[in-house]
Amino acid sequence: MATITEVWTEPIVSKEIVLKTSTIKVESTEVPANDISDIPLPPPSKQPTQVLNVDKGTPDSHVPRDPRLIRLTGVHPFNVEPPLIDLFKEGFLTSPELFYVRNHGPVPHVRDEDIPNWEISIEGLVEKPLVLNFREVLQRYDQITAPITLVCAGNRRKEQNIVRKTKGFSWGSAGLSTALFTGPLMADILRSAKPLRRAKYVCMEGADKLPNGHYGTSVKLNWAMDPNRGIMLAHKMNGESLRPDHGRPLRAVVPGQIGGRSVKWLKKLIVTDVPSDNWYHINDNRVLPTMVSPEMASSDPNWWRDERYAIYDLNVNSSVVYPQNNETLDPSSAGPSYTVKGYAYAGGGRRVNRVEISIDKGKTWRLAEIEYAEDKYRDFEGDLFGGKVDMFWRETCFCWCFWSLSISIPELEGADAILVRAMDESLAIQPRDMYWSVLGMMNNPWFRVTITKENGILKFEHPTHPTISSGWMERVKKSGGDLTNGNWGERHEGEEPAEPEPVQEINMKKDGLNRTIDIREFKDNSSNEKPWFVVNGEVYDGTAFLEGHPGGAQSIISSAGLDVSEDFLAIHSETAKAMMPDYHIGTMDQSSLKVLKEDKSTSPDEVRSVFLQPRSWTTATLKEKINVSWDTRIVKLQLEHEDQALGLPIGQHFMIKIPDTSNEAIIRSYTPISETNQKGTVDLLVKIYFATSTVAGGKMTTALDKLPLGSAIQCKGPTGRFEYLGNGRVLVSGKERQIRSFKMICGGTGITPIFQVLRAVIQDQQDPTSCTVLDGNRQEEDILCRSEIDGFAASDSKRCNVIHTLSKASESWTGRRGRIDEALLKEHVAPEDESMVLICGPPAMEKSAQEILSKQGWKESDFHFF
Ligand code: MTE
Repeated sequence: MATITEVWTEPIVSKEIVLKTSTIKVESTEVPANDISDIPLPPPSKQPTQVLNVDKGTPDSHVPRDPRLIRLTGVHPFNVEPPLIDLFKEGFLTSPELFYVRNHGPVPHVRDEDIPNWEISIEGLVEKPLVLNFREVLQRYDQITAPITLVCAGNRRKEQNIVRKTKGFSWGSAGLSTALFTGPLMADILRSAKPLRRAKYVCMEGADKLPNGHYGTSVKLNWAMDPNRGIMLAHKMNGESLRPDHGRPLRAVVPGQIGGRSVKWLKKLIVTDVPSDNWYHINDNRVLPTMVSPEMASSDPNWWRDERYAIYDLNVNSSVVYPQNNETLDPSSAGPSYTVKGYAYAGGGRRVNRVEISIDKGKTWRLAEIEYAEDKYRDFEGDLFGGKVDMFWRETCFCWCFWSLSISIPELEGADAILVRAMDESLAIQPRDMYWSVLGMMNNPWFRVTITKENGILKFEHPTHPTISSGWMERVKKSGGDLTNGNWGERHEGEEPAEPEPVQEINMKKDGLNRTIDIREFKDNSSNEKPWFVVNGEVYDGTAFLEGHPGGAQSIISSAGLDVSEDFLAIHSETAKAMMPDYHIGTMDQSSLKVLKEDKSTSPDEVRSVFLQPRSWTTATLKEKINVSWDTRIVKLQLEHEDQALGLPIGQHFMIKIPDTSNEAIIRSYTPISETNQKGTVDLLVKIYFATSTVAGGKMTTALDKLPLGSAIQCKGPTGRFEYLGNGRVLVSGKERQIRSFKMICGGTGITPIFQVLRAVIQDQQDPTSCTVLDGNRQEEDILCRSEIDGFAASDSKRCNVIHTLSKASESWTGRRGRIDEALLKEHVAPEDESMVLICGPPAMEKSAQEILSKQGWKESDFHFF
């Protein structure tokens, strides 16, 4: 007889935690009470290793994902359900890569080496506040393994959104998944902190940093302490350590309750005498009374504070899987019957005791067969994935069940729909009518699959599809059907056809605004700092909402420069849409709109000859970091392929974006030092501004210094108003001028754009332009690109004159001393016709140089600041 042990549980015993994907080892030494083959084991799982292109420009660029998952809220944050059919085919347990995901924001980046020291605190109304690290959570407490179905409270919300848009985004009926979770009971952990007598709630907080604070919620303390409710902390899912999207390394799992209570990336358990005051506990996971409209809910906060409307236990629910949406059946070639199949679940540990099917509009019902795979674990005694399976004594049901019913083909031919409803052991039954509510949660009316006939072929339609326009509900709504008439929008016998209800359009435009914006203006103005985007042909400036946006700044930044109509309209509520006039800045003309749409349709995966894209982020890879000095590096980025050119005009820059330690994007502009026509790679000169005891370090440079080789780096550009066309031809803000000399003034890393232009001039021996470079630094070792620029001066002293000046020079320095001051500028940068002053350096230096030179007679149009 076989038993299962799991490889990485063993090192824990030997006090060493090996954090790698576990493998299952079947041994034949111990004799368990039952055969392992009696219980459902996880389906074969293939952990994704590739970060998908769409994720590369987001704070989740460290999370490899399965491309089959259907994204419900655009690219980021990551909210997905698997295709219903794929989920069902997995069987009772779902592979982690197909498990639905609900993330309110970025996934915390937790490195393997940090996991053993991941800490959670148990605080609040406890006698003995505790901080436990990950090792202690595994070593000090008994571990259990249990199958649990997690369900998002938004499962089936698309149906509500079709009746009337709620404040929530659409889910189909695959917003649920099942796994074997392993970890300690939360009760054991709380008990070791000794909750005080007046303690009533356990608040949980995750590590994900969101616009309204960390994600958090609470459950009642007595539920957490009740072994029947099985509330646990989990570090494994189907025997593997948790994947990043599912709370790696540690999460709460609250069986039988809405998924929103199962806090991921768990950092805190706070015992209190009142429910959580976390923003997400108050403003999420509620079923407000049906008459509360989005406007009422937004204007009166009391609706949200009323604990009666908070939802905990799941309600009873079901869905048809077969027939699938849009499946067809030819009765002439089908067998005698068709087996209708699907799933059902209930909440609070209650069992689904019946699933009923009607094919005559609910007049009569027949009982479906129910298969409760969860029961198979009740007889199993032994360890699974390092946790004890201990279910024989508890009679609660925390998993979905499958139902099926065979219906004869002639009966199906005579029916117009298949209706399904489930009832749980408390006799709660799915209602016929939808209970619409402002957050669209817990939607559980009878699941209805329509049957239409064309040329004798039967076609089945589900109510909805999560993201595309498909399913009978939209069809009925479009043809004017009233989805709330108790007859699924169809006319009752003898009833006159109804006038289609006028669709209530939310005005997203500013009254009286009459400004046309063309593609050029849109393109020139849209940046990450000032994200302009288009919805339904109207241009919006999201800058003022970067801080307050509930989905985080990143979701607006990702929209910059794009037509995001589809995603925007799919995701946003009536309330959100009603806020749009405040951000409306104009209307895009039709031809620009066409260009923008075509621009969007280019595939991110195509092989492109030029790397940089002005309106979207492209991904380079950190290839090499060469130490030039203790604080300066040449950072080499690998472009998408060997033959790819960067695509940067001389004198321009591009933005690079990387996540900081808390996963927020840092964006800075760089001018490379490599030749702009170099193929396949690009080199940046980066001076690291390390933190000192008094000054914080440079955000970008310190993060870049720590970034491991192989990391993805987002790039976007070119940017800049200046371009050197060669032979003294200069383009400034699109206007060309001819010059005979450049006066170049720089300091520190300000040399980089200057260096680009200088090199272009000197390398072209036919170019008659002369260049004077004043390069100010503190010490000799701070002079960047020195050998190259001195080399230019040595090789062509007629066209290139370089003066270094040092403010903190050592005694051995024989060159110029002091800052770039009036005397130096007078001597080398006297006003000249057909000349331009290029300046790049610390702001104080730039300002003083401009003041001095203006006094000397240089005109404003002669300056260019990089
Ligand atoms: N925990 C944190 N820290 N952050 C979150 O965004 N989402 C919650 C819950 N726990 C969330 C969280 C919601 S609403 C659901 S439905 C479940 O996680 C989803 O869990 P899953 O993504 O592992 O399927």
